[in-house]
Amino acid sequence: MVPSKLHALFCLCSCLTLVRFGWQDLHPAAQMKSSVWLNEIQALIAAASFGQTKIPRGSGSYSVGCTDLMFNYTKKGSFLRLYYPTQDDDHHDTLWIPNKEYFFGLTKVLGTHSIMAKFLGLLFGSMTTPAKWNSPLRTGEKYPLIVFSHGLGAFRTIYSAVGNDLASHGFIVAAVEHRDGSASATYYFEDQSAAMKGNKSWLYFKTLKRDEDEAPLRNEQVRQRAKECSQALDLILDIDHGRPVQNALELEFDVKQLKDSIDRNKVAMIGHSFGGATVIQALSEDQRFRCGIALDAWMLPLGDEVYSRIPQPLFFINSEQFQFPANIIKMKKLYSPDRERKMITIRDSVHQNFDDFTFATGKIVGYIFRLKGHIDSNVAIDLSNKASLAFLQKHLGLQKDFDQWNSLIEGEDENLIPGTNINITCQHINTLQNSAR
Ligand SMILES: *[C@@H]1O[C@H](CO)[C@@H](O)[C@H](O)[C@H]1NC(C)=O
Ligand SMILES: *[C@@H]1O[C@H](CO)[C@@H](O)[C@H](O)[C@H]1NC(C)=O
Ligand SMILES: *[C@@H]1O[C@H](CO)[C@@H](O)[C@H](O)[C@H]1NC(C)=O
Repeated sequence: MVPSKLHALFCLCSCLTLVRFGWQDLHPAAQMKSSVWLNEIQALIAAASFGQTKIPRGSGSYSVGCTDLMFNYTKKGSFLRLYYPTQDDDHHDTLWIPNKEYFFGLTKVLGTHSIMAKFLGLLFGSMTTPAKWNSPLRTGEKYPLIVFSHGLGAFRTIYSAVGNDLASHGFIVAAVEHRDGSASATYYFEDQSAAMKGNKSWLYFKTLKRDEDEAPLRNEQVRQRAKECSQALDLILDIDHGRPVQNALELEFDVKQLKDSIDRNKVAMIGHSFGGATVIQALSEDQRFRCGIALDAWMLPLGDEVYSRIPQPLFFINSEQFQFPANIIKMKKLYSPDRERKMITIRDSVHQNFDDFTFATGKIVGYIFRLKGHIDSNVAIDLSNKASLAFLQKHLGLQKDFDQWNSLIEGEDENLIPGTNINITCQHINTLQNSAR
């Protein structure tokens, strides 16, 4: 077989697996019958071999650098990917998914045979994102800081379309990798000598046991996630203050460059799905996060007590397809007249429009497997990013030109719906909650 056919076949296998098992509970599994699969195969092989799209670079004026930071080396330390403005363009692009173990973790999330990890690795293992790996920080300015929280079964590296764009507009973005069992995989080091040798200990996605009640587990996880976000913030503010921090990963990027680089009062959180719930939990616990943006938030993990504890402004950016009444009803519980709450919905979008997987496959394949909506993935992420920038300028008090996109916060665009597409009037909440999975 010629390489492109081989490639197409791998893509086919992995994509069929996505369809077969869905993307865990991030959206309801697609129920395609096997006869339908067979009918699709020819179209797929043709589609998979062309139209491969790329993760977009940021649309702002700064070049973007990227590095990983782990401190300390234990499971209880912080692990994050940093996106930042850089002044140097001669470094290589950043490897998107840097370890094969993440592909193995994804097979656990997808509930497929671990042999699929090899296929996924062949497909995506050498893909890069357009941020300069370990490139030096651009100096001479203090940057606002975003802590980013990933979704269920995701990990720190697959939101680079968001990270690149924010950094290109002058933010430092710390994308945390959670150690609560919700990442497809993550690693740490057992002890100092393991860290020195680079002998990683891997922690994989925790699957729900049969008959296990989901809400208590997710609530425990969201609390840990919020702590990890605050801890990441502590770490970066410490480095900003000049505390010597030894990156357990010993990369070329010297973290000392971050001294005096953060605009310490301008800190916000963004997260996707489970990460959207994490935004809400973290804001309720940590007032240093001055506002939050929840991308297609999944509200189930949150306990009842948080709803009254978030004075900070919140912005919900939803996909059209993922949302459902029980989830929207919970978002609306956060509304009160004296609090700033905004919600928009991106037309024809799906849950995966917010992460990089939407850019990782060709148009047709991506659409069939719900990594893409009818909407162009670049248009969708651009709307989400620009609306986010306008919201951040408003609530962090930035002196930039992001207010040119203020109308997006109100949902004024042909590709946006103000508020939500979900009708929650006259609904019986009990029956809806039962169907919420
Ligand atoms: C690592 O960091 C965690 C969390 O801050 C802390 O509890 C622990 O004591 C630290 N361990 C070492 C070896 O520094
Ligand atoms: C790596 O760590 C594991 C467990 O932490 C240990 O069993 C193994 O011997 C270590 N390997 C090396 C080469 O040090
Ligand atoms: C929402 O649903 C209710 C009851 O099912 C219906 O009366 C109402 O017209 C719907 N609203 C919209 C905007 O579709």
